Amino acid sequence: MDFPGWNGFLGTRASLMLDIVCVGMVVVVVVLAWSVRQVRRHRRYALHRRVQLGLAVLLLVVISMFELDIRLHGWQERAAGELGGQASNAVLTVLTVHLCFAVTTVVLWILVLTLAWRRFPHPPAPNSHSPFHRRWARVAAWDMVLTAVSGWTFYVMAFVL
Ligand code: HEM
Repeated sequence: MDFPGWNGFLGTRASLMLDIVCVGMVVVVVVLAWSVRQVRRHRRYALHRRVQLGLAVLLLVVISMFELDIRLHGWQERAAGELGGQASNAVLTVLTVHLCFAVTTVVLWILVLTLAWRRFPHPPAPNSHSPFHRRWARVAAWDMVLTAVSGWTFYVMAFVL
């Protein structure tokens, strides 16, 4: 069907940017899990810092491009499957849940990143900031996973079914 903006590459009704974010979140969750494992198992603190900062920059770029796409072209027509259509209530409910996770994730990531940057030594190593970082970084990481899972659920309900 002829929707506004570029079509994606996954063969669904989603736009190109939606597909990029959908696949990008798989990469983010896998890299995040790997980075946490590096610090817990192998105490590679400098590697962990580099990867976390890289992930944050990647997310900033992709999410900005994604927001631009959604603002310019919208998404509801694609979700309804026909030009001028409106998404169903179920889809809007899942989107609301997803946005709750997404917004808290952004706040938590900014908090965890800036405090880690300021309070851990350079090069990074455990210190008195460790208990705070361990607690809130875990919450931030799980929030990111839940953002991804709710995002994929929204994607399937809106653009596949
Ligand atoms: C949002 C970004 C970040 C997330 C989600 C995150 C996540 C985590 C997690 C889950 C742990 C392991 C906690 C445990 O033992 O279970 C950890 C440990 C650690 N992280 Fe991060 N991290 C982030 C950013 C950073 C940054 C930017 C630095 C350095 C400036 C850093 C330095 C460390 C250090 C030194 C530890 C070891 C703490 C200890 O065991 O005493 N992290 N991080």
